[in-house]
Amino acid sequence: MKAIQIHQYGGSETLTYEDIPRPEPAPEQVLVRIHAAGINPIDWKIRQGWLKEVFPYPFPLVLGTDMSGVVEKVGAEVTTLQPGQAVYGLVDMTLSGAYAEYGLGYATTIAPKPQTLSHLEAAAVPVVAQTAWQALFEVGNLQASQSVLIHAAAGGVGSFAVQFAKAKGLTVIGTASAQNLEFVRSLGADTVIDYHTSDLSAARGVDMVLDPIGGDTQARSWELLKPGGILVSTAAPPDPTLAEKHQVRGTMIMVQPRSQLLSDIAALIDAGKVKPKVSQVFPLAAARQAQELSQQGHTRGKIVLQVV
Ligand SMILES: NC(=O)c1ccc[n+]([C@@H]2O[C@H](COP(=O)([O-])OP(=O)(O)OC[C@H]3O[C@@H](n4cnc5c(N)ncnc54)[C@H](OP(=O)(O)O)[C@@H]3O)[C@@H](O)[C@H]2O)c1
Repeated sequence: MKAIQIHQYGGSETLTYEDIPRPEPAPEQVLVRIHAAGINPIDWKIRQGWLKEVFPYPFPLVLGTDMSGVVEKVGAEVTTLQPGQAVYGLVDMTLSGAYAEYGLGYATTIAPKPQTLSHLEAAAVPVVAQTAWQALFEVGNLQASQSVLIHAAAGGVGSFAVQFAKAKGLTVIGTASAQNLEFVRSLGADTVIDYHTSDLSAARGVDMVLDPIGGDTQARSWELLKPGGILVSTAAPPDPTLAEKHQVRGTMIMVQPRSQLLSDIAALIDAGKVKPKVSQVFPLAAARQAQELSQQGHTRGKIVLQVV
């Protein structure tokens, strides 16, 4: 099968388009014929070797987790998915990643694909939508009538967070650059802030800040929270002394993919409540250009690789 592999850590030149053997599922695994794979920043962070202490993957490594495709084969112990079923979710890079014609994963992180989405659109959903959901409702515990400031609201995590928050009846303030303000408004944000030209005072008094950026963005956010509020970061662990100083909480989350959550999100998508935004599509062989674009940090919605 065709796959994008790395044989060592490094720049985008380490991504190579190769022919490799098709993997076979063990009894508890699922083999998916991948139609589309989503690009996530963690893919190029892994490629750069930034996470090698946390995730010591073996080489050669097929990158990518987000995918949409059709179940090709299931192991003898898999009872929830059948060959021929259209699915989306995460394959497992330690087995065989998503930038390939076939990927291997576990049924616990794969679910039936949203019926109203193409494979290209469905591949844009799994990691970012589950991250946004878990940040807002499982960690932030937000309820209707509360308010949230969503940084990087035009990005993968942010664009889902805005839509989920609005669907739950929250007041949403989003930050973006000038060229993305209208896009963030179209997702439902009540207020949009150009983070290059405006201060963040319009967000003062929010119940939660969702921070997919870290650094200065996180540092400027503490004073915007109401006492007892929470800052949830997907990018950098918050400083507990700053949280204490502002009488708020701060935490960093790691997404916990679950097939049930993927099914719940698929139901929201099929009910027309949320929709992914695919801004660029590249063929599998052009994964290098796709990652370079992601690495610039200004993706609107998602970048997706077309495999079939
Ligand atoms: N911990 C986890 O489990 C987890 C899960 C998913 C993602 N993440 C991490 O979360 C981060 C975000 O992921 P993502 O997929 O949403 O990334 P992404 O789609 O690449 O984010 C791009 C967006 O960031 C915006 N942006 C860049 N700098 C900004 C700033 N200073 N203020 C506000 N917006 C800014 C850009 O908007 P403009 O072009 O308008 O500037 C762009 O739309 C990444 O670091 C990723 O690795 C972690």
